[in-house]
Amino acid sequence: MKTIRFGIIGCGLMGKEFASAAARWCHLVDPAARPEIVAICNRSEKPFAWFTENFPTITQVTHDYKALLANPDVDAVYIALPHDLHEQTYIDAIRAGKHLMGEKPFGIDLQANRAIADAIAKHPDVFVRCVSQFPFYPAVQHLGTMVEQKKFGRILNVQTGFLHSSDLDRDKPINWKRMIESNGEYGVMGDLGMHACHVPLRAGWRPMRASSGELKISSVLSNVVTERWTDKTRSEKTPCKTWDNATVLIHAHDPQTDNQFPWTLRTERIAPGEKNSWYVEVLGETMSAKWNSREANTLHVLDHQATGGAQNWQQLQTGYSPRYATITGGIFEFGFTDAILQMWAAYLHEMVTGEVPNSFAGCVTPDEVTVSHEIFTAALQSANG
Ligand SMILES: NC(=O)c1ccc[n+]([C@@H]2O[C@H](COP(=O)([O-])OP(=O)(O)OC[C@H]3O[C@@H](n4cnc5c(N)ncnc54)[C@H](O)[C@@H]3O)[C@@H](O)[C@H]2O)c1
Repeated sequence: MKTIRFGIIGCGLMGKEFASAAARWCHLVDPAARPEIVAICNRSEKPFAWFTENFPTITQVTHDYKALLANPDVDAVYIALPHDLHEQTYIDAIRAGKHLMGEKPFGIDLQANRAIADAIAKHPDVFVRCVSQFPFYPAVQHLGTMVEQKKFGRILNVQTGFLHSSDLDRDKPINWKRMIESNGEYGVMGDLGMHACHVPLRAGWRPMRASSGELKISSVLSNVVTERWTDKTRSEKTPCKTWDNATVLIHAHDPQTDNQFPWTLRTERIAPGEKNSWYVEVLGETMSAKWNSREANTLHVLDHQATGGAQNWQQLQTGYSPRYATITGGIFEFGFTDAILQMWAAYLHEMVTGEVPNSFAGCVTPDEVTVSHEIFTAALQSANG
């Protein structure tokens, strides 16, 4: 099996998730390649001990990402940094000839994303994808197969979203994800939006354009908490200007059936009752399906033709039936860290073989990311106009 030697730039929450997935690569049956963590880079010292204690393969530990990119023993990099650092680090990685898995939103704004896209176009030998793991849940893979097999018929209505509630706590201090300078003008859309775009964009559904050329998109954006504690000492407050909640209505087009439909995309940090709910609902003329990570192992399917017109949602228990085979028995439950492992399996599989087993079993492409940026930018324009 081929080994791809990885450097991790940004050893925070997500840097550790990738390293942990790499550590249990033996979970996968016959993967096309395996990752080996050989280099790490982080601004602060703090996470280094966890990495070096758990990964004896690491030979480079640095605060300087350029030193990591200059390391000839690194084949590929995972970059999981605050959004204001995406543009420069992604472009530098691509120019250094390193394969790249970049975290969303893949550039702090549309302009940054376009600059990254330019670098990718100039280096076609470098394999680049963006992180988004939720479609790798077996139930969502099943929904993707329904799309491929045209089971929905004419698409009538699509709803996708990602909802959190931790920011209901007004006592929570501000961090980089709540600051425009580091998180970006998109606010919550930059943080959660790519996840909610992945399935519709992979299905080929795209926002329509008006005759003026503008995307047919409207939005309501809310900044609920306008100031937060500056730090954990809770002695002074600082303005919190990022959008907390976004509802975006997209006039979408399905090229499979050449029909138009409303796609409502919600990303919220202040959604009472929702701890970490990622969801997708597709209503079609012949069949419908819906899934929510709150009930991760159940796909709800409505086949009203098969049931003689009865409006009868059925529950399909998907168990542990991921796209990339593993050692786990099919009756067991699937969860967040399994989705991360599957996404990484998809990334390495596509990098090494040049293909994916089916279209929903691939990571987000740079072109799809750019469409997500166009959607968020149009949503900002709608809110400001
Ligand atoms: N896929 C997901 O589900 C998911 C979840 C959370 C975050 N993310 C994305 O991952 C990325 C990182 O988010 P996170 O939650 O891991 O953040 P984090 O704050 O936990 O980690 C970021 C790390 O980057 C380091 N860092 C900052 N500036 C640096 C620099 N100049 N050089 C080297 N290291 C530097 C910090 O010290 C920190 O350890 C973001 O793009 C975010 O949108 C994705």
